[in-house]
Parts: sequence; C-alpha cells; structure tokens
Amino acid sequence: MALDSRFLAELKARNNIADIISTAVQLKRNGTRHVGLCPFHGEKTPSFTVFEDTASFYCFGCGAGGDVITFTMRYNNLDYIEAVRYLAERSGMALPEEEGRNAAYQRKKRERLYEMHKLAARFFYKTLMSPQGKEGLDYLLGRGITKESIVRYGLGFAPDSFNALKDHLREQGYSPDEMLAGSLLARSERSSSSYDKFRNRVMFPIFDLRGNVVAFSGRLLGDGKPKYLNSNETEIYTKGNCVFGLHLAKNEPEGTLILCEGNLDVVSLSQAGFTGAVAPLGTAFTKEQARILAKYAKNIVVAFDNDSAGLKATDKAIKYLEEQGIPVRVLQMSGAKDPDEFIKTYGRERFAMLMKSSKTPIEFQLEKLRAGLDLADTAMKVEYQRKAVETVAAVESAVERDVYITKLAKELGVSVESVRMDVERYRKRKASTTQRQVIKAKEQELKGTYDRVNPERAGNIRAARSEEMLIALLAKHPNLWQEAERRLPPDQFRTSFNRRVYQFILEEYRASPDAQTPVFAKAFDEKEMARISYFVNTAMLNGDPMEQMAECVAIIKDEQAKRIDPGAFSPEELMQKLKGEN
Ligand code: CTP
Ligand code: MN
Repeated sequence: MALDSRFLAELKARNNIADIISTAVQLKRNGTRHVGLCPFHGEKTPSFTVFEDTASFYCFGCGAGGDVITFTMRYNNLDYIEAVRYLAERSGMALPEEEGRNAAYQRKKRERLYEMHKLAARFFYKTLMSPQGKEGLDYLLGRGITKESIVRYGLGFAPDSFNALKDHLREQGYSPDEMLAGSLLARSERSSSSYDKFRNRVMFPIFDLRGNVVAFSGRLLGDGKPKYLNSNETEIYTKGNCVFGLHLAKNEPEGTLILCEGNLDVVSLSQAGFTGAVAPLGTAFTKEQARILAKYAKNIVVAFDNDSAGLKATDKAIKYLEEQGIPVRVLQMSGAKDPDEFIKTYGRERFAMLMKSSKTPIEFQLEKLRAGLDLADTAMKVEYQRKAVETVAAVESAVERDVYITKLAKELGVSVESVRMDVERYRKRKASTTQRQVIKAKEQELKGTYDRVNPERAGNIRAARSEEMLIALLAKHPNLWQEAERRLPPDQFRTSFNRRVYQFILEEYRASPDAQTPVFAKAFDEKEMARISYFVNTAMLNGDPMEQMAECVAIIKDEQAKRIDPGAFSPEELMQKLKGEN
C-alpha cells in the first residue's frame, strides 16, 4: 500500500508522540522533553526521552529511537502498515483507499489461517492435559519438562488419529482446503482424501514475533523417523524467517540470546532460567534468522550440539551473526550432547559456568586448528603457527589482536615479538591486495567500533557531523528546505547514509509542504530510525538557523574539496592524513 506523505504527516500530527508513549511509559515533563524508564531495556534511572518538538524519542541507555510510528511498531510488535493502521484508527482517520478487493481477500485468508492455528494449538494443549494425552504428558514430564514450561511454550499433543483435528476444526467452521493450506492436513497421493498430518506426537507451536501461532513442530514419543515433523511453509509461515522461542526470548532483560539446535534445548534452558534461549527451526541457521536475532539481541552465545554437525553449524552461525555486527561467543560442552542433556546431567550452575567461559570466535577457531595436533612435533607446530597467524591477522582491532598474539606466543612457547611480526607481516601482504578495505577498517578502529548504520561516518567525521546538523536543522525548521537544497544538492554529502536521509527530507517537504516533521519510518529501519532520532535531538542548535545552515554547508563543501584519493598514498601516509584531519 502506497501511503502518501500528506496522509502520514497528518497521521503524525494527530497522534501526539508524548500522548501515545505516555499510555505505555510514565513520563515526566521537562520543557519540550519528557523522560521515563525505557520500555525496551531494563533500567532504574530514566534515560528514555521523548522530544515533542521533533516528534521523536531516543533512549540514551539502549539506543532505541524513532518517531511515533517506530514506537508503535516496536512497542506493539506491529509491522509498518499495521502500526499506521493502528494509529489511523486511534485518531479517527480513514486509511486512503488502501487495497483492492484482492488484497482484502488475501488479508482475510491470512487472518483465518492465524485463527485456525490458534484453535489447533488450543486443541493440542487440551488434548495433552486430557486422559487422551497421558502418553504425551508422561513423555514430557519424563524428560524433565515441568507443567509451567508446557504452559509457557504452549506445548500440546496430537492424538493418534487421522481425523481428530480435522473434525475439531471443521466444527469451528474451517474447511479441509483451509487446513491443507495451513499444512495441518496431509493428502494421500492415491485417493485425494486428506487426514491429520500430526499424529501421536508432542506438539511445539511455532510463534511469530507478535505471538501468533504460525506453524507446528511435532516430536515422536519414542525413536523412529522422522523424529520431528514440521509444518510445510504456508502463507503465514516461512521457515528461514522464524526462530523458535524468540517471541519469549526477545524480552530477555540482559539482551543475551542463546542459540541452540533443538526445541527441547530451548524449553530446558528457559526452564533452568536461561530465558534467552532460541533455536532455528529444523533448517540450517539462515542469514535472515541472523538479521532477526540482531534486532533483539545485544550479544549471542552459540550453543549448538556437541558433534561435528554442530561444529560446522557453529562456523556458519558465527559468520552470519558477525555480518550483522552482533558480538558472538561460542559455548562448548563436554559430557553431554546438547544443552538439554547437559543441564539434566550437571545442573544449571554448571551451565552458567559454561556461559561464563564461552569463547570468542577467534578462540574457537584457534582451538579447532589445534585439535588433534601435537605441538611437541615441530612440523605440526609450524603448521599450527602458520594457520593461527592467519586467523589472528584477521582481527581488525589492534588491541584485540594483541591479546591473541600474546596468548598464541605463550601457547607456542615463542616470543611475543616474533608472533607479532608474523601477524603484522601477514596483514601487510593482505593489505596490498585489499588496501582500501583495510584502510577503511583502520579508520573505524581508530574511532572505536564499526558503525553499522553509517559506515562512512568514521572516516568523514567532520563532514558527517555537519551533515547531521543540517538534517537536524531541517527537521526543526521545515521552511529552510528549499534554501538548503539550493545551496547544497544531496550529491555533495560525503556519507551515503546521511545523503539518503537528506534526500528523503527534501522529497518529503516537497510532497507535503505543510508537514511539521518528516515521516522517516516508512523508509528507514529501526536502527536507522534510532540514529536519525539521536542526531536530530542532540544536535546543538542555537542561534540563527539560517546562519547555522550556512556554516554546515560551508564545512561540507570544504570537506568535499579536500577529499583525498586513497589510491594516491601508501597506507601509512594515508593513516597520517586521516589522523591529522579528524
Ligand atoms: N529437526 C527436524 N527434523 C528432524 C530432526 C530434527 O526438524 N528429523 C529439528 C528440530 O527442530 C529439532 C532440531 O532439529 O528440535 C534439533 O534436532 P535434534 O538435536 O535431533 O533434536 P532435539 O531437539 O535435541 O530432540 P531430542 O532431544 O528430543 O532428541
Ligand atoms: Mn539435540
């Protein structure tokens, strides 16, 4: 649905951000600001701030931020369109002719699928608790799962029948076609008759992030194949986009998620107090799952099964999670095949110790390299050193690299200096091929951590700050936009993220000249919203806006003029320049 800028501007004007947020958070007023305890992370002193003048919020504790639409999305777990619909309804606005007949029909169909899954989950749960479910209940209790956990995860039992669920849902008004479309029935190939897909299995409902049941995973009570039977993908369920247990784990106050392999690991872990446990669903861990986890986690501990498949899966999980910029650690156990078995055998304290001693990905790599090698053997030692040096050389932060260099030297019984020389020599060699990339990384290293939202910022601090100031000025003084555009066309921006924001603002104001604040939420994701909200609300705007704008423009142009061409300098010379300039 394409929503026009005018509509959104009006929506924002009608839904005062302080009003909306104060229904969820107790706010204290301080001028045009309101502060309260952040609903997105646990805190005791308020750092969550609502800025009425820019119609946005920002939490100085956890970095959540955005506008009234972002808030509604996050707080109520809605997607963008749903949040808009919610706010429109609340303020008595009619949505613009939003969808054709077909779209309305699709929506209805999906809603019925959700409802049908909810009824099915209830049916399985009731069955589990009835005499008919005794076997299933005994199985779960026998595996140490408590009744509380059963309720918490909504576990259930599918009776050993070909039509129990089918009949039940039919009574509730659902057709076999709908049940087939929802992957609750299977169809025999010869006759075209359909029957209950899940039979005589313990049922794990799979929830989406809003708490809708969207699919099931059913486990056999004993041995046999397949051990788990899963819903096929349907209109409301895409395997690679769901993470088992995340609807509960996302509220984990510390923000530490534990990624394990199995559904039962998740239930056991959370039962033992590790409430951040989640699992990919029967599939290998996907990039999309990593992206979703990164939205909810501050850091992630990978605790896959203690076997070769688990080790391999761990490599991939590390790769995907690091691509998302999330700090990852690897938990390794011995004496048990998975977290569920470990906790049952050794108890939760021991597992907490494993969490504490979990390894960084580099430590994990080094251990894998060393496994099975005898360092007393010279050839093996040399081989190990060569590979280990390559691994450590890949670490971008010099401080971190030094930590590993020292460890490695100790382990090999050689001098720290010699290892450092090897590592740095390897880096130089690599650098000549990927010179520019390495330089970028170095700049970022100088500035601290990698900036995901605006990766170019670290290398262009002076320009970026003025760009942000200019954006903040426009957010507060819409009437300046034409003048800004005249003086500084977007292509003059040095960092592409800020350029995108600037371009967006100009387009917004062009489309709806009487807008009070631009509606960023339709074009930027949560992290980006938070960034925009941050700089718009922390920019030091004082004095004459026109003059300030002129200053910003001058600085950006100046930076543009002295732009250096990385190819023209050696890495060392370039580093000197970068350091000198910022
Ligand atoms: N899985 C699957 N289909 C199978 C086997 C496994 O979809 N035939 C998925 C399930 O989501 C399962 C996960 O892979 O939870 C991990 O599998 P496994 O380690 O074999 O199962 P556990 O959950 O550890 O189950 P249990 O402890 O009951 O053996
Ligand atoms: Mn397992």
